[in-house]
Amino acid sequence: MIQADQLFTLALEAADKAASLISDEAEKVLKVDFKGAANLVTQVDVAAENIIIETVGSHFPDHQFLAEEAGESETKSDYLWIIDPIDGTTNFVHGYPFYAVSIAVYEGGEALAGVVNHVQFGDVYSAIKGRGAFCNGKPISVSNTRTLKHSLLATGFAYEHDEVWARNMDLFREFTAMTQGVRRAGAASLDFCHVARGWLDGFWEFGLSPWDMAAGALIVSEAGGVVSLSNGDPFDLFSGDAVASNGHLHEQIVQLLGRDSA
Ligand code: IPD
Ligand code: CA
Ligand code: CA
Repeated sequence: MIQADQLFTLALEAADKAASLISDEAEKVLKVDFKGAANLVTQVDVAAENIIIETVGSHFPDHQFLAEEAGESETKSDYLWIIDPIDGTTNFVHGYPFYAVSIAVYEGGEALAGVVNHVQFGDVYSAIKGRGAFCNGKPISVSNTRTLKHSLLATGFAYEHDEVWARNMDLFREFTAMTQGVRRAGAASLDFCHVARGWLDGFWEFGLSPWDMAAGALIVSEAGGVVSLSNGDPFDLFSGDAVASNGHLHEQIVQLLGRDSA
């Protein structure tokens, strides 16, 4: 069995290499392609992803990868690396500094380690299962806010402007009315980490992909928070939605998300 520490150190190294590349390339002219009307991808997403896969693959060529740009590797293994090379590509393209490299390692379907590198802030969030959550090596924990009216929340919106998107626009309004605000920074991995460090009291989103959530969800749990599906069921990486909170507000958020439109 491979030690979690070894995988964790490699995840940190791969994220660091990708972050350096992204930071260098941020100064240059970007070639932007469209995966959808508002779903952007640049050559930097692909280059950063390649560097992560090469770094991990040079140590563990038989591990499996699920990466946003390259998809799923053909190799099947108990060890699965889930990679978002740039979470927040739209922000990256516009020079808005909320984008991150997100890498998680799963073993047999369970999260072992996660790293989210907030490139422009130099903040590296990390967690190993059962050993707490950290930012730049210092322990972090969720907030102690106990009422929605004292809370700051965040959400996000998937690229497709469908019924779920429209429903979340309504929820955005409803939650804004009953909290101190709802942020929409545009990088889900960072939304999770900001819950983990107590800047935010809760976060929810629909239409997420595994690579948006894999590292961040572990970091929230290890910071003492709670992560579930939007209906309160146990978190599932492949379900497409998530609620992350400091725990105290979890039930209230889940109940409001499940309520019929006001
Ligand atoms: C997106 C960001 C955004 C979220 C979208 C994601 P990308 O990831 O995390 O915050 O609202 O649902 O797709 O495309 O920038 O990697
Ligand atoms: Ca993403
Ligand atoms: Ca991405």
